[in-house]
Amino acid sequence: MMDIFEKEKKLFLSTYKRIPIDISHGEGVYLYDKKGNKYLDFFSGLAVNALGYSDPDIISAVTEQVKKFSHLSNNFITDVQIEFAEKLLKYSGMSGIFLSNSGTEAVEGTIKLIRKVKGPEKEIFSFTGSFHGRTYGALTLTPKEKYQHGYKPLLSNISYIKFNDIEDLQNKVDSNTAAVFIEFIEGEGGIVPASEKFIEKIEELRKKFSFILVADEIQTGTGRTGKPFAFNHYNILPDIVVTAKAIGGGLPLGAILVSSELKNVFSTGSHGTTFGGNPVACAAGNVVFKKVFEDGLLKNVENNGKYFIDNLNMLKEDFLKEIKEVRGKGYMLGVEHFYECSQIVEEFRERGVFVNCTNQNVIRILPPLIAGKDHIDLFISEYRNILKGKK
Ligand SMILES: Cc1ncc(COP(=O)(O)O)c(C=O)c1O
Repeated sequence: MMDIFEKEKKLFLSTYKRIPIDISHGEGVYLYDKKGNKYLDFFSGLAVNALGYSDPDIISAVTEQVKKFSHLSNNFITDVQIEFAEKLLKYSGMSGIFLSNSGTEAVEGTIKLIRKVKGPEKEIFSFTGSFHGRTYGALTLTPKEKYQHGYKPLLSNISYIKFNDIEDLQNKVDSNTAAVFIEFIEGEGGIVPASEKFIEKIEELRKKFSFILVADEIQTGTGRTGKPFAFNHYNILPDIVVTAKAIGGGLPLGAILVSSELKNVFSTGSHGTTFGGNPVACAAGNVVFKKVFEDGLLKNVENNGKYFIDNLNMLKEDFLKEIKEVRGKGYMLGVEHFYECSQIVEEFRERGVFVNCTNQNVIRILPPLIAGKDHIDLFISEYRNILKGKK
């Protein structure tokens, strides 16, 4: 009889490299496979599962909502969506919201909004090392050959600036600039924070040329970095924030958040989607916001994030031939090795820990926001054992 992995090969388009583990369920910070093995999940479904697995409040909020209705057309507005919008706008400091189903869709809608305000001829910029999604507009903003290969022609009037390179920024941004998309901490790019000076220069140029600054907070939002959004680490307020991943509590949801000046760009019918703002996803998201922003989880990430990075730096000191640099903030951390690190990810897995490798050499650590010091200690101890084996 074929197992699910053989069946997958037969049935699915081969877009994903699947982990050969058949998961039975999750609880808290742990996942369990059908053989009864337990895994510490420091990957969180790629920064989605902020509250870990089987959170009882998410389960009851979702159940209550499904009992009422799981979907209405966007011709209706419901309480649960209003609560969601109020909370997300409050914590982001933005003024208007559009709800999508995913991150890439939020980026796509934002490109449309920018074109509508600024016209089609003006240039939109993103940064080297950035990742904004896989649909055509978002893919065009993602300047990595691995992702763009075979899909050209891409969208016109989109170009790239070297991340954290003030000179390149100054040379490219001018009065013909419509917008700049930025991840304040690049995720896929290897957990690379923007430098303070770089953001100061962006702010200076934004004042001069009045372009729209878009913060891609799809991975970094909802408390992931120890602040509500990664831009909160800097002295700046973007014109647009796009977010997704954790905001739906494990269900598909994305959002475009705009400043008051951009609230009236879209009019009835100029943008839309059938499932965007699904009430069940909003009900789950409301629980996430409550726990992260109101019940102290954000503080947990801020405090334990410091503890985590200190411990990773100690590890680096002990393994100077293995670890090049430790980067990141809160629970979005990266450990750059001197070599390709997929082997380390596999060794972690054999020891019952899930973690991710990005940009070839970087161990990307994205624990659920509920993870505590004991989980961090366990992770560090396994990491140490793996690196000891390499000496
Ligand atoms: C920074 C960033 N932007 C955009 C996306 C795309 O989001 P989605 O996969 O929900 O379309 C991702 C996904 O990893 C991301 O990390």
